[in-house]
Amino acid sequence: MIVARARVVVLASGGGTTLQALIDASSTVEYPAAVVAVGSDRYGIGALDRASAADIPTFVAPPDEYPDRATWDAALAESTAVYRPDIVVLAGFMRLVGAAFLDRFPHRVINTHPALSPAFPGVHGPRDALAYGVKITGCTIFVVDEGVDTGPIVAQASVPVLDDDDEATLHERIKEREREILVQTVAELVTDTYRIEGRKVVRS
Ligand code: GAR
Repeated sequence: MIVARARVVVLASGGGTTLQALIDASSTVEYPAAVVAVGSDRYGIGALDRASAADIPTFVAPPDEYPDRATWDAALAESTAVYRPDIVVLAGFMRLVGAAFLDRFPHRVINTHPALSPAFPGVHGPRDALAYGVKITGCTIFVVDEGVDTGPIVAQASVPVLDDDDEATLHERIKEREREILVQTVAELVTDTYRIEGRKVVRS
């Protein structure tokens, strides 16, 4: 029996090591999801190269090519919808998606953040954790809402902060765990059904 795998569209803005973990997982037949397209807000990034190397189609929607944020958001949603995703994964996508995007894929957009939410939202999670002096930080997978890293939490993993860490070493330690829990969480979300109740993601 051939069972269709869930279709995953990944949006990324950077080097794409998180994307690569999903691509690698998809290459095993047991994994219940496959990356069917990769989108970005910028050209010339590692994530797009990784997608091309794996023969995965790509699309790019830079905000400065659109008259305003709402038009960009709707265009990004349109380009993403072309690939009929069951789930959309923001993997190092450094932009906020808006209402048009989220309405198009209700409760099916997830993001990974390199901090233990609700601590240290935004684009400098590891730097902010170091500056605060926490001894434990980590990563958070959440269902995206219109806030900055505020959506209902699906999974978290903790990572120690070492005395001699700088931003790069800490972020790399976080990313190792992030890749693991993202791959596992995507598999679970496309296999189980889930609903959002308040701030909780309830699986059944
Ligand atoms: C990851 O740590 C991801 O959580 C972070 O960017 C990195 C992407 O790395 N995203 C954010 O900080 C979003 N707030 P990658 O380009 O190597 O996959």
